[in-house]
Amino acid sequence: MNNPFEFGRELSDLEIVDRDQEIQEVVRTIHNRGRLFLIGPRRFGKTSILRAAAERARKEGAVVFRYNAEAYPSLTVLAERIVTDAAKELTGPIRKAGRKIQEVFGALQPQLTYDPVSDTFSATLGQPGRRTSSSGRQAEEMLLSDTLAGLNRLAGMTSAPVAVIIDEFQAVVEEGGPKAEGQLRAAVQTHDNVGYVFAGSKTRMLSEMTGDEGRPFYRLGERHFVGPVPREDFRLFIAGGFEHGGLEIVEEAIETILDLSQDVPYNVQRLAHACWNHARESSQTMSSQCVTAVLHHLVSRDDPFYTQTWNRISASQKRALHAIVYTLGTGLFSGDITRMFGLRTPSSMQAALQGLMKAGIAWENEHRGTTRYRLEDPFLAVWITLFTVPPKER
Ligand SMILES: Nc1ncnc2c1ncn2[C@@H]1O[C@H](COP(=O)(O)OP(=O)(O)O)[C@@H](O)[C@H]1O
Ligand SMILES: [Mg+2]
Repeated sequence: MNNPFEFGRELSDLEIVDRDQEIQEVVRTIHNRGRLFLIGPRRFGKTSILRAAAERARKEGAVVFRYNAEAYPSLTVLAERIVTDAAKELTGPIRKAGRKIQEVFGALQPQLTYDPVSDTFSATLGQPGRRTSSSGRQAEEMLLSDTLAGLNRLAGMTSAPVAVIIDEFQAVVEEGGPKAEGQLRAAVQTHDNVGYVFAGSKTRMLSEMTGDEGRPFYRLGERHFVGPVPREDFRLFIAGGFEHGGLEIVEEAIETILDLSQDVPYNVQRLAHACWNHARESSQTMSSQCVTAVLHHLVSRDDPFYTQTWNRISASQKRALHAIVYTLGTGLFSGDITRMFGLRTPSSMQAALQGLMKAGIAWENEHRGTTRYRLEDPFLAVWITLFTVPPKER
């Protein structure tokens, strides 16, 4: 029998716990050709929501293009992928594809190649460097907005709803800079035939991008913040998974799984997965102590990976990380706390925390008027308490 707890891949509609509201909101945006920003930390399940929504909308007749911006080495490669997919999905009979693509994407000098054996197209675009006199980068962000404009023209020729989903959207702006942000906004704002869903993990960056008056994406679309999965749903899900395998787990141990994972969906699944295997191999009833032991085993096994992360950051970032772990991430800017953790001033704490966020290690959880610093991977906190020297003992 397969372990019912899955981590690290995109879940399908049926495997997702909760998130109905989010999925419906994405589906609605696709059908209405609207604009939506889905913002939340890594490992909370944004990609799974997007995948489930895309599948649902496709079943209902929509044409959905979904991309993870982080997976493309440059905006040019992403633009070529979009033209390729557009040729495949939106041009009708193959013999017409080439002409249609020239018609709508003409400015990009697209070359379309069709491979009858694999029944696939591939598009290459004219050199972006040739398209402006200044930097190639400037040309690149034009390329993406021109590509989306072409897609909008193509979408106007079909009656089906057409939508573009860009996951880890902040990568586009990180790669293309403020110019890309402006270009994209201009494009997205004028495209009536295409719906857009943007998702991203840099929570601070994205809420500023979409919430600051001076920024191009201000009030361009609805914003939805993806929070944790409600505990009650996860409790039932974990209990169900153990029951399904004929395995025993006490209620308190389920709570321990959720506590140690800080309700982060990826970590909940990962720890539940390991506990399920342990229960099966040992024929033991899972208790809270067992769960803790399984987690310690897990982080010890991942020690090389955590050591790498630890060695990669600066001395003051290590201090700030200790502060997050031992204070549970609040009150970090008080004089006492900064001193206790060996940082000279609140502003050096601030700088170190910025660094940790940029490195994808920490994030700011803003909730009901307070800010709490949290780790993207809650198990890193466990590794830190097990294997690094706490500040008081130094
Ligand atoms: N709603 C959910 N129900 C159950 N598990 C989830 C859920 N959301 C996320 N997960 C777990 O987290 C993992 C990562 O989810 P993913 O969608 O890739 O998150 P993100 O895109 O926000 O980083 C999934 O493989 C799964 O194990
Ligand atoms: Mg993702």
